[in-house]
This record gives sequence, C-alpha cells and structure tokens, in this order.
Amino acid sequence: MNNSSRKSIRIYDENHHISDEEIESIILAANKAPSSMNMQPWRYVVIKSKEAKNLLKDALYGNKNQLNTSSAMIVIFNDLNKYSLADKIYTLAYEKGLMPLEVKTKQLSNINKIMQSKNKEKMIRSGLIDCGIAAMNLMNVARDYGYDTCPIGGFNHDKIHDVCNLDKERYYPVMIVSIGKAAEKGYESIRLSFDDVAKII
Ligand SMILES: Cc1cc2nc3c(=O)[nH]c(=O)nc-3n(C[C@H](O)[C@H](O)[C@H](O)COP(=O)(O)O)c2cc1C
Repeated sequence: MNNSSRKSIRIYDENHHISDEEIESIILAANKAPSSMNMQPWRYVVIKSKEAKNLLKDALYGNKNQLNTSSAMIVIFNDLNKYSLADKIYTLAYEKGLMPLEVKTKQLSNINKIMQSKNKEKMIRSGLIDCGIAAMNLMNVARDYGYDTCPIGGFNHDKIHDVCNLDKERYYPVMIVSIGKAAEKGYESIRLSFDDVAKII
C-alpha cells in the first residue's frame, strides 16, 4: 500500500461490520512497530459495540461523525507499568534463540535500574513516542486491510478511563483512532516545505 496517499477519513460506511478477527490481525501487524527497549507500551481498547460507543460519546470533543459511522474506535494508552512485562519479553526472546542470555540479563538489569528511578515524566515521554509510532503503524496497516482511519486527540483524558474500565494511574491516554470503510475522500491538506521542516548539515 502506498501510504503517502493516506488521509484522515471522518465519515465511514456505517453498515460495515469489522470482525474481531480483522481487528486482531490489524493490531498484531501494527505491533511490529519499534519501541524503546522493545517494551511495546501501547495498549488498545477497541470500542465496537453500540453500548461502548454510547459511553464514549460523552468523552469526545466533537468527532461525532467518526463515532457514529466508524466500524470501531480504538483508544490507545501508554502503559506506565510496561516494565512488568519485561521479564516475559526478554525470556521469550531468549527461549526462541533471538537473544543470548548475557544480553537478556544485561537488559533486565538496566530495566531494573530505570524502574528504581521511578521517573514518571520520563515514562510518559518515552511511551508517548512509542505509542505515536504504533498509532501511525496501525493507520498504515489498516489501509493494507482496506480500511481508513482518523487519529483523534479531541477527547477528555479524565473521562476516558471510565469508558474503557482502566486504571487511571497506570494507563496514560494517547489518542483514539477511528477505523472503517471510507465513505468520503477526505480533505486535501497542505504540507510544509522541505525547508520549513528540515535542514541538511
Ligand atoms: C495527535 C493528532 C490528533 C488529531 N486529532 C483530531 C481530532 O480530534 N479530530 C479530527 O477530525 N482530526 C484530528 N487529527 C487529524 C488531523 O487534523 C489531520 O491529520 C491533519 O489535518 C492532516 O490531514 P490528513 O491526516 O488527512 O493528512 C489529529 C491528528 C493527530 C496526529
């Protein structure tokens, strides 16, 4: 898929149903995104049912077209307790022969030091980078499956945990991605020039 043709789509075919299997395939493919120390801090809550969408309504600022017409609204959270899965990730990597034991031991020891420092700001910042990359990957992968998306930052961060039934302290909200079969072309949007955004030194 040529991802340079991606656009934010805000109106979808409201009769299209996305299966749980498709969602699982899309999320597993999006999971190939890189992340700091391969900690994969992204967590997804897929809001698909009428009841769940109804709950989400009150947490959105605008964005009602996406809510009402999408096949699903995927809420992405940054897991501030991501290191609780470090042992699982590194043990699996070692057992599958993807990582020597010394590297696993060293990485887990480094992670232990980071955990001791309990720097919440750093956890938020690094997780936001990882989750942003994952969100972009999700939007690109969705197109491979014939879907379009819209990233949505317009929602109430204090209300979203109740909608998703998640712990406020542990899960830091990042964004919502609506997904569905496009029923519009999307707006043309301008981009800054090379000189506006880059320099070669
Ligand atoms: C972090 C983030 C938050 C956004 N929030 C919203 C939103 O709340 N509602 C919306 O309609 N579009 C939202 N957008 C989409 C942008 O408006 C859109 O990406 C931009 O105008 C460029 O258009 P394009 O995606 O079609 O290329 C958001 C995009 C990002 C990356």
